[in-house]
Parts: sequence; C-alpha cells; structure tokens
Amino acid sequence: MPGLTIGDTIPNLEVDSTHGKIKLHDFIGDSWIIIFSHPGDFTPVCTTELGKIAAYAEEFVKRGVKLLGLSCDDVQSHNEWIKDIEAYTPGCKVKYPIIADPKTEVIKQLNMVDPDEKDSSGNLVPSRALHIVGPDKKVKLSFLYPASTGRNIDEVLRVVESLQKAAKHKVATPANWKPGEPVVISPSVSNEQAKEMFPQGYTTVDLPSKKDYLRFTNV
Ligand code: BEZ
Repeated sequence: MPGLTIGDTIPNLEVDSTHGKIKLHDFIGDSWIIIFSHPGDFTPVCTTELGKIAAYAEEFVKRGVKLLGLSCDDVQSHNEWIKDIEAYTPGCKVKYPIIADPKTEVIKQLNMVDPDEKDSSGNLVPSRALHIVGPDKKVKLSFLYPASTGRNIDEVLRVVESLQKAAKHKVATPANWKPGEPVVISPSVSNEQAKEMFPQGYTTVDLPSKKDYLRFTNV
C-alpha cells in the first residue's frame, strides 16, 4: 500500500510526546497542523530546524496552524535536546510538542521513513518529512527532504498561505508567488463566475493560443 500522501486522512494515532499523550485528530481539532520529522535528537541540522520553527511559531499561530515535531528518540532525550535547541537559537522557546517514536512505529504510519538511511543498529530513521494537514484531517501538502538538506521555514510559511488562500477562494498561486502578490483564478471558474466571485476585478493574459485561462486577481 502506498504511504500517506496528499488527500489522505492522517491516521488518528495516539502518540507519546513532550506534552504527554496526543491523539492526532483531537490535536488537530478545527486547526491546520504541520507535522515534521527529524532524523534524530542531538544532530546538527535538526537542532537548527527546530529552533527556526520555534522562532516562527507566532507566524503559524496567527494563521491558525499548530506545530508538531517528531524524532525517534524518547521524551527524556527530547527534553534534554530542547535545551540545546533554545540555546542555539536565542529567544526561541520550543512550545510545540515533539513526538517520541523510539520504536519507529509512527514514522511508518505517517510515511516519514528515510528509504536510504539506517541507524548504527540497522533501524529505520525518519527523513525530513513534513505534512501540512487541514481541519478536515486530510494531508494538503508534503515535503520529503533527505537528512542532508535542512528545510526553509520561509517556504513552509509561504505554502501555508498558498493553501489557505486556495481553501478560501477558488484561486491558486503561480510560480515563485509571495504573499501579497496576485494569484491566479482556478481553471474550474468560468469568466461569468469570475466576475461574480472577484468583484475587485481580474486581468486575463493575452496568450498566442487566445485561450483565456491565465487570469490574475488579488484576494
Ligand atoms: C543532522 O540533523 O544534522 C543530520 C542527521 C542525520 C544525518 C545527517 C545530518
């Protein structure tokens, strides 16, 4: 069976974390969540990533997004590691829970296993996976990075904004889009519907095909 991917409902697992036991669907509630995995505690790239995510936490809260980390060590190890994370990124507080998955059960169910890496005992290790899950408990977007490449938290925030705009209006965001820039109107919206849905107006790009599918608006 293929692993958890876009459009799937995240399994309602009960997991151990630095904030105690968490049932994933209860944790999501009516929010969006970002669940992100890390190859291991006390590793250099992960230490920078968790600190950076903590530093951006307010930006995620403002957008109704909860954060949930995961690493395959136990809670005691996570709590020790948090001291390093906070020391490395001054001013950051790791207020979000970090799942403990020492038996690598959660990473298998959430499609977060690194296919190329094993630890020194031959056990599975997580990749740098990240799922953004909507209030309907479905996966909206996933990143899958190898251990060698730390994630860009500006990009995580950017895609959250894109997903939330697309969920609210029938729009999509074009290449290299940044928050505040025009968006494109979804192809499923006719020109008649677009006039009603976007009273602020929209512009249609004149293309050689003369097809009027590339329409920009501001929402
Ligand atoms: C790191 O977080 O720095 C890391 C973890 C596993 C392999 C390589 C790098």
